[in-house]
Formats: sequence, C-alpha cells, structure tokens
Amino acid sequence: MKKNILITGGAGFIGSHVVRLFVNKYPDYNIINLDKLTYAGNLENLKDIEDKPNYKFIKADICDFDTILKIFQEENLDGVIHLAAESHVDRSIKDPFTFAQTNVLGTLSLLQAAKETWKDNYDNKMFYHISTDEVYGELEFDGSLFTETTSYDPHSPYSASKAASDHFVRAFHDTYGLPIIITNCSNNYGPYQFPEKLIPLFINNIVNKKPLPVYGKGENVRDWLYVVDHARAIDIIYHKGRVAETYNIGGFNEWKNIDLIKVMIKTVDKILGNKEGESLNLIQFVTDRAGHDLRYAIDSTKLKNELGWEPSLQFEEGIELTVRWYLENQEWMKNITSGEYEKYYESMYK
Ligand code: NAD
Ligand code: DAU
Repeated sequence: MKKNILITGGAGFIGSHVVRLFVNKYPDYNIINLDKLTYAGNLENLKDIEDKPNYKFIKADICDFDTILKIFQEENLDGVIHLAAESHVDRSIKDPFTFAQTNVLGTLSLLQAAKETWKDNYDNKMFYHISTDEVYGELEFDGSLFTETTSYDPHSPYSASKAASDHFVRAFHDTYGLPIIITNCSNNYGPYQFPEKLIPLFINNIVNKKPLPVYGKGENVRDWLYVVDHARAIDIIYHKGRVAETYNIGGFNEWKNIDLIKVMIKTVDKILGNKEGESLNLIQFVTDRAGHDLRYAIDSTKLKNELGWEPSLQFEEGIELTVRWYLENQEWMKNITSGEYEKYYESMYK
C-alpha cells in the first residue's frame, strides 16, 4: 500500500539510518525527511539515497507550527516518525532552554499539526515518537532492568525534555484519540554518529592521538545497540505495533564505560597496526558529568515476544564494523570536526 511518511530529524544519526531503510525497502512509499540541519544534521549522511524518486528533503524547524501544518496538509501524510531532537546530555546541561524548545515545543507543534490535519479520520494514521531509556532515570548495579512500566524519573535537562515530550504524545492520544506509539531505546552506536558522543569521539581521538576524557571513574554502565538494529525495530513497530503502546528497545548488551573504552582502543590499535595497548595512555579521568546516571539497561522482552524483534549483531562484530567505518570515512569526520565544532569541543574541557 502506498504511504506518505514524514521522518523528522532524518539528517541526524539515527534518523539517517531510518530514512535509508524506508527509502530502500519501500519504493512505493514517499519518504519526506524534515530537518532543520542544526550542528547535528548532515545531508552527507544520506548521499547514497538522495536521488531516489521516493525521497524528498525539506529544511524546516519542527517548532515552526505554521510551516509544519502546511507540510501536513500539502503532503497528505499518513504517518510521522519523529526523531528530531536535541540529543546530547552535555549540551543540555549548558543550554537547557534549547532542549525544552525543540524537544517539548517542537513535539507539541507536530502533534497539533497531526491532530488538526487528521482529526476527521484517524484510520491508518500513525504518530510514532522516538524516545529514550533516559526518561526512566538510573538503575543500581543490581541486575534490574527498565521495563515499559518503570516510572519516569529523568535527571538531566535532556531526559526531562524527552520525558515531557512523551507525556504530550500520550496526552494527545488520551485527549484527542490521536493514534500514537512511543519507543524508548538504549544507547545507539554505528556509522554517522556525531563525534560528541562517546564512541565516535573516542575513535576519532585515538586515531588523532588526542586525550580520551573519561567522566568520573568510568564506572557508569550503558546498554549499547547497533543503530541499524534500532532502525529495523522502528520499521517493525511502525507497521505492526499496537496503537497507544510503548515498546522498549535495547541490546541486552551492558558495558561499563571503561571496559568499552578498552575494547575500542584494542580494536583501533589492531586495525591501525599499532602495538597492542599503545593508546591506553590516552585515557584521562576527568570531572564527572553533573547528574551522571549510573546505569541504563533495557528489557525489550515485550518487543521480542509481540513482534519478534531481536538485535542481529553481536557487540564485538558491531564495534569492529563501526571502527572500520570511521577509519574509512575520515573525510566525513574531518568535515564536521573542523571549524565551529572544534571550538565548541575545546570549550567543553576548559
Ligand atoms: P542527532 O542529534 O544525531 O540528530 C538529531 C536531528 O534532529 C539532527 O539532524 C538535527 O538537525 C535535527 N533537529 C534538531 N532540532 C530540530 C528542529 N528544531 N527541527 C527540525 N530538526 C531538528 O540525534 P540522534 O542520536 O540521531 O537521536 C534521534 C532521536 O532518537 C532523538 O529523539 C533522541 O532523543 C532519540 N534517541 C537517541 C539515542 C542515541 O543513542 N543516540 C537513543 C535513544 C533515543
Ligand atoms: O540512553 C540513550 C541515550 O544515549 C540517548 O537518549 C542520548 O541521545 C544519547 O546521547 C546517549 O546518551 P549518553 O549520555 O548515555 O551518551 P554519551 O555518548 O554522551 O555518553 C555515554 C557514556 O560515556 C556516559 O556514561 C558518559 C560517558 N562519557 C561521554 C563522553 C561524551 C565519557 O566518559 N566521556 C565523554 O567524553
């Protein structure tokens, strides 16, 4: 069946993988990528599909309600997959207003446009909101996992803004009947991630023999998922998920930061032909992130049991693929790490 689907934030890390998957897998769909192209949005991420007949890019801000409403009406949309957001915790600590603006008001603007456009007939419509496991707060080192019924307890301005947006999405279902789905995913890694996030930042720093700033003692734990597996989950949930449900998406793949960093060092040194452990001396323990959540770990059993999704890649395989991708795409990395971003990065550690 033909569909017109709006993907917001499609020029970002995860969004670009979702756009690529949908454009290639569904030639009958029209995929409209709406992105403001902030520092994190990069059309280079989509070079391989930009000329496909079922793909279109619109540069717009999700907070600009009039433009968003016009797009909903002109493009005759059947669905939205909403990924556009400010996504970096450290930036949210420095500039919380931008996070409230984009993540809360931007989401509200999309919800309102969807409701206004679809309200007379919600049949076959879908508003799919991409959220994060960070809304659940943090776990102790006790083996517990976040489930879909874990209470919200966000700690950073980023996670607070994502939690607020999730509440708006549910409110639009409960109040106006808007068909929605929310998914909460754990940490993603893979190609095209902006190098302010742990994995691409550290790979790039190892290659360039720059210090690796490990927050605190490096004991915080994250649950890592290869980004293409997240995109696969979004595809399955968009098509087969139940309206008004929440699904957790995770890798069952917990790593203490310091152990993960050692795996990255080992992998990069091996591929570059360096002496084993040569880059370990780049590790520098620095002041901890304010409000740093101790541990995240997702229970995605519901998604497995209901819709049959499971991660397809083992972590060792995924991290090797990822390291190789960044080493083979150093031009991509150079283009975004020069200029403004370099100044920002230097300022973070002053
Ligand atoms: P990203 O920062 O790489 O990309 C965000 C994209 O949104 C960029 O292309 C940016 O230009 C765009 N954008 C920002 N503000 C906008 C605005 N006002 N209007 C239109 N476009 C705007 O983020 P990501 O890591 O790909 O995350 C995508 C989504 O997934 C976010 O909602 C994030 O909260 C969520 N998420 C991320 C992870 C992760 O590990 N990266 C995990 C779980 C959930
Ligand atoms: O859990 C999902 C979330 O994962 C997403 O919602 C966010 O958008 C995404 O950015 C990510 O958040 P984290 O804060 O977990 O990711 P980040 O890559 O920034 O950091 C991962 C861990 O590494 C975290 O414990 C902080 C630590 N870290 C990070 C950086 C950038 C360091 O020790 N040093 C660093 O320089």
